Amino acid sequence: MDWKTRFSDKVVLPEEAIRRVIRPGDIIGGAMTCGFPQVLPEAIVQYAEELSGITIMHGIVVGNAPHYAPHLSKHIKLRNIFVFDATRDAVREGRADYVPMYFYEMPECWRNGIWKTDVTMIQVSPPDVDGYMSLGVTVGYTPAMMEVSRAVLAEVNPNMPRTHGETMVHVSQVDYLVEGDRPVPTVPRSKPDEVSQAIGRYVAELVDDGSTLQIGIGAIPDAVLNCLTEHKDLGLHTEMFSDGAMDLLNKGVINNARKSYMPYKSVVTFLLGTKELYDYAHENPSVVLLPVEKVTHPMVIAQNDKMVAINSALQVDLYGQVNAETIGTLQFSGVGGQVDFVRGATLSKGGKSVIALPSTAANGTVSRIVPYLDYGSVVTTSRCDVHYVATEYGVVNLKGKSVRERAEALVSIAHPRFRDELAKAIP
Ligand code: COA
Repeated sequence: MDWKTRFSDKVVLPEEAIRRVIRPGDIIGGAMTCGFPQVLPEAIVQYAEELSGITIMHGIVVGNAPHYAPHLSKHIKLRNIFVFDATRDAVREGRADYVPMYFYEMPECWRNGIWKTDVTMIQVSPPDVDGYMSLGVTVGYTPAMMEVSRAVLAEVNPNMPRTHGETMVHVSQVDYLVEGDRPVPTVPRSKPDEVSQAIGRYVAELVDDGSTLQIGIGAIPDAVLNCLTEHKDLGLHTEMFSDGAMDLLNKGVINNARKSYMPYKSVVTFLLGTKELYDYAHENPSVVLLPVEKVTHPMVIAQNDKMVAINSALQVDLYGQVNAETIGTLQFSGVGGQVDFVRGATLSKGGKSVIALPSTAANGTVSRIVPYLDYGSVVTTSRCDVHYVATEYGVVNLKGKSVRERAEALVSIAHPRFRDELAKAIP
């Protein structure tokens, strides 16, 4: 039977797909970020009571997350492997669980049976002439989750770009297909303020021509990209591909020519940005989306010489411990690929990692450089892993420094209003 016959046999209404495949008590995994399906979760929600005891598990979800409605919590258990806007309140209120895990290790969690998924739901482009559909904007952990699942449900969306790399899913790998046609969710470009531009300028000074960049999530990493327009021959090997990186590619600042690993390719595991970014990646063989373990494993990252990893944080204490995830006891974000890249850059020949953050938060009322992390906060990047830390007051290198030296260095880049108080806490 040719794939077209198989394809038409598998196309069903969303409610039918849910009824045929999902059993009470199942764990349903979803692709992350803008690849998270849009129609299928709505159908699941309709049958939530009937499907009692199901769990839905995924990373960042951008856009609609109907399964997070508070009234559904008695029917649907929620497991987050990255906390973001759509899921933060549920975690705070105890309606959802957060599971901390290095991004590169997630696929192994499924393959080793540490995590279980019964049904995977994905969003894909329509099939090509040979029956291949593209995962489009997100690969991430999806291939591993599909491998271990009893069934795969695909939402076929003509708005999903067809991207290159290891993004193809054949119709034969999928049990049922449902039709969707909503725009792929987008996030607007961030608008750098004076503080983030000042930080960007300090970080840009650390980036030598010919370096390969990882750009983390948040306003500061984006601002750094704006400050790199005079650089030459930069490369891109990053978990998240954003509009800022696309701008540098369009300007020829990033050309991937001097990369030691996969030269002439931008290597990423997901796209997060505007429609312009998705159009850029559509059918573009120079943008390669790979499963996360082939992008953020520190040993893979380290194959890039002069790797520069640029990430942000919520707090850094005077020991140099980095908290990028919590505000007190509130789980604000997730570990994501931060530690993967900090360690990968450390292992890279000539590599550097930078934690870049504004010196204050909450409209200048609190210092982000603190004597001790807040009660309930966690350490994302440890003091032995941390390398450079930058604020709008400068950049310091903590590698190899004593406890006292690193505290003194950090006080020197704190907001002047908090420096005296912090100096009293130097160990
Ligand atoms: N105390 C109180 N409030 C704080 C705070 C602190 N120490 N630090 C930040 N906040 C507040 C800010 O004031 C801001 O509030 P507002 O929105 O009302 O202005 C909010 O928390 C968000 O802080 P901000 O610094 O603007 O966050 P961001 O969007 O730039 O993201 C991280 C920063 C650290 C959350 C983000 O980089 C992240 O999620 N990192 C972890 C994962 C990672 O690094 N992955 C790497 C590759 S993707």
